[in-house]
Amino acid sequence: MNPLQHLVTQAQMDFLAAQDVAALENAKAQYLGKTGQISEQMKGLGKLPPEERKVQGALINAVKEQIETALNARRDALADAQMQARLNAEAIDVTLPGRGRGKGGIHPVMRSWERIEAIFRSIGFDVADGPEIENDWTNFTALNSPENHPARSMQDTFYIDGKDGLGKPLLLRTHTSPMQVRYARHHKTPIKVIAPGRTYRVDSDATHSPMFHQVEGLWIAEDISFADLKGVYLDFVKTFFETDDLQVRFRPSYFPFTEPSAEIDIAFGSGPLKGRWLEVSGAGQIHPTVLRNMNLDPEKYIGFAFGSGIERLTMLRYGINDLRLFYEGDLRFLKQFN
Ligand code: FA5
Ligand code: MG
Repeated sequence: MNPLQHLVTQAQMDFLAAQDVAALENAKAQYLGKTGQISEQMKGLGKLPPEERKVQGALINAVKEQIETALNARRDALADAQMQARLNAEAIDVTLPGRGRGKGGIHPVMRSWERIEAIFRSIGFDVADGPEIENDWTNFTALNSPENHPARSMQDTFYIDGKDGLGKPLLLRTHTSPMQVRYARHHKTPIKVIAPGRTYRVDSDATHSPMFHQVEGLWIAEDISFADLKGVYLDFVKTFFETDDLQVRFRPSYFPFTEPSAEIDIAFGSGPLKGRWLEVSGAGQIHPTVLRNMNLDPEKYIGFAFGSGIERLTMLRYGINDLRLFYEGDLRFLKQFN
């Protein structure tokens, strides 16, 4: 066999022996690389007389092509084998049983929120929604807590970068009460509305979370009294807790935006909490200053408001003793409500 033909056979065998792409590239370098055998042959051409150089050059080129053909064939074969191996490794066993789709559920606090909306809608209350980023005037000043008034310290506040149009700080609303003013300024009397939503305070323990939910209730008319508020709230809690065996009392308290002010306590007539008075809400008669900030005449209108913690209502309904459970995202806890 002439030496050039021998080179082709040798290359074919080396390529076939290469079991992966890296080995194949090494083998290729020996023949087609800069210092490989084909290059060596080419270098030798210079020493030949012109006539022979032409013939020998053509022979070397033909051999080079054969080697390249062998190389490409092996490359394709290795790529196919690799693909096949991957397909085998990643094969999906379609006969295995499915893993199933995880069932989502409604968070207990959301469940309460939805129940509260449904109950108040059924007795003719509108449901309103408002911003969680509030301005200083609506969250405090309009609610009769002037700047520097000590009553502001009742609610530790998250301020955020940025100012409102009056150059006053923006903040995360500390209660849903600013919705009283927002709603009343844009709706005709008589007003009956609830405004549930998220609220924020610098608070954190077993009964206080930095983010929590309140539902504001507002009722403004010309001829209502505390007795009406009490009746509505009693109806609400009876429906919410699904029992008639329940009492409501108003205990004197203080809020800047109501006068007189009260805490609403409830007591169950049976069950594990039987006979204990439990605070569920702040409430009161809308302060004349607040009515004026709503552009209403305090001589003509009387208003009542309440603000209840939705987590608190939910804890009482389900017998939960630590509010932080709501926000730990533990599925073992959350699944119990679905
Ligand atoms: C208020 O926020 C008044 N705006 C309520 C009000 C409305 C009074 C209308 C009069 C008229 P207070 O700070 O007490 O009041 O909060 C009301 C309820 O929100 C509390 O009873 C409690 O259930 C809940 N609450 C307050 N802070 C937290 C907290 N950090 N985590 C969870 N719940 C809270
Ligand atoms: Mg309170």
